[in-house]
Amino acid sequence: MTADSNHPTEMKRKAPLIVWILTAIIVLMAAVLVGVMLYLKSQPQPTRGVAPIQQIAPMDPNSSNWGVNFPNQYSSFLKTETNNSPTAFGGSARSSKLEADPRLLTLFAGYSFSKEYNEERGHMNSLIDVREIKRVDETTPGTCYSCKSANNPRLWDKMGMADFDKTLFYDLGKQITEPIGCANCHEANTMKLIVTNPALEEALQAQGKDWRTFTRQEMRSIVCANCHVEYYFKGDGKYLTFPWANGTRIEDIVGYYDELGFKDWEYPDTKTPMLKAQHPDYELFSADSTHFKAGVACADCHMPYTRDGAAKFSNHNVHSPLLAPEAACGQCHTDVGYSVNRVATIQAQVNERLLATEDAIMDAIAAIKAATLTGKADPTQLDEARQLHRQAQMMWDFIAAENSMGFHNPEEALRILGKATDLARQAQVKAMQAGGAPSTLISSQ
Ligand code: HEC
Ligand code: HEC
Ligand code: HEC
Ligand code: HEC
Repeated sequence: MTADSNHPTEMKRKAPLIVWILTAIIVLMAAVLVGVMLYLKSQPQPTRGVAPIQQIAPMDPNSSNWGVNFPNQYSSFLKTETNNSPTAFGGSARSSKLEADPRLLTLFAGYSFSKEYNEERGHMNSLIDVREIKRVDETTPGTCYSCKSANNPRLWDKMGMADFDKTLFYDLGKQITEPIGCANCHEANTMKLIVTNPALEEALQAQGKDWRTFTRQEMRSIVCANCHVEYYFKGDGKYLTFPWANGTRIEDIVGYYDELGFKDWEYPDTKTPMLKAQHPDYELFSADSTHFKAGVACADCHMPYTRDGAAKFSNHNVHSPLLAPEAACGQCHTDVGYSVNRVATIQAQVNERLLATEDAIMDAIAAIKAATLTGKADPTQLDEARQLHRQAQMMWDFIAAENSMGFHNPEEALRILGKATDLARQAQVKAMQAGGAPSTLISSQ
């Protein structure tokens, strides 16, 4: 009986040993596989097409020199100058946002954006467009060239960003001859994607991040964050700064500006310290959007691979993906028609909410003005109303100034607009109370 019962127990002891060995082998193989995948993912894109024939000087601002080596990328890049087709909410036809929505004249009253504010166009137009805009005058700092020219990387290297930003726009302009170009995104000769804007380098550092450790797929988005972001001009030197130290969500950004006591301008009549959003495409997209979470990069949709005979290359004609949805969306979505329809639905919804938020802010401004004009409004309540207006308008603008009419992150866009509308209505009620209307704002706290 005892001898018999020993036998199966021994077998039981042997079985786990085999399982252990097998498990160890499987774990080891999986680790090697993951290692190889991570290694491959971090490798730069092998250069496709024609082999380099001309050595490029570091940070060469002249894209046509680079174009000798990479004719496909260069010729597609040149198309950004003339691809002037409109879409429902984007595209590249030059059009005035102020004419399309005259309420912006009230929302930006007292600020340069109420002078001229246009739909943006392709990368090759960056220099013409910044020089023609009525917002520029003899006091404008050189900082305004930061996202506009392939001369910048060399100038930043030579003079440092602090001096670049301090120089007046018209003076700095004498050294700026090229629109956006290869040197804004690539290292010469290796053609590696790189961060070229010192402000982005510093903003990432402030978050404890180093782009040199990023994967290739992360680089395919972060190069766009050299320019497609929210920023402000810090201090008297107008030092280009991204307000990312607390994070890149709108709440983090508004909190950052509040802590700093920063304002872009003061609203006339009400003296509200206002904020203007730039173009936070990267921040909205990276706020856990479906595509961002799925590992999709800006370049996937805006620079899809294209074939020309035997050559396969990234299309450098960066524009609205809706102008070429088969190439932009078709690489991942089998039903391109459905995807494009979803864009239309999302943009229509976001636009409807955006306009409702504008209504609320217009009412808040009217109420704050009226309360201020009485001359005897409760100063504490009036100040609360101003702070609410400041926050509401910055949140609205975060979506209004962003370039995709919500498509880059539909849930986040609608969340922000909902919150902005609420804050604007609170501002309106507070201002009415401050002006002597009976207390109607019942707070549960
Ligand atoms: C999943 C695809 C996709 C990704 C990823 C994506 N975009 Fe877009 N983007 C779009 C679509 C669609 C539009 C809307 C175009 C329109 O309305 O004509 C758009 C609009 C834009 C526009 C305005 C274009 C115009 O014609 O006015 C800019 C600028 C832009 N995106 C930049 C970015 C940046 C920067 C990133 C990464 C941070 C990014 N996009 C990521 C699909 C994408
Ligand atoms: C706005 C940023 C940007 C600019 C400006 C730019 N590129 Fe690129 N380029 C990219 C991105 C993003 C990729 C994709 C890289 C990857 O997948 O690793 C790329 C890829 C490339 C590649 C690798 C092969 C390929 O097609 O994927 C070459 C070569 C290249 N670009 C050449 C140029 C040249 C030449 C210019 C100037 C005429 C230029 N690029 C301007 C962003 C840019
Ligand atoms: C050096 C700054 C800079 C970089 C880097 C940059 N952009 Fe732009 N981008 C701009 C500016 C400035 C404009 C507007 C130009 C104008 O209106 O004249 C623009 C316009 C656009 C447009 C609108 C084009 C149109 O036809 O309306 C899209 C889309 C776009 N960029 C996407 C991207 C993507 C995607 C990347 C990264 C691969 C990127 N950009 C990198 C500065 C930059
Ligand atoms: C590199 C691959 C890739 C590209 C390019 C791409 N998508 Fe997607 N898309 C995805 C993934 C992954 C998802 C997540 C859901 C899924 O698996 O279908 C998604 C989801 C979506 C959704 C559903 C959104 C949601 O919140 O559930 C829409 C709408 C969409 N894509 C539209 C587009 C459009 C329009 C384009 C072109 C402008 C595009 N996509 C380009 C990969 C891509």
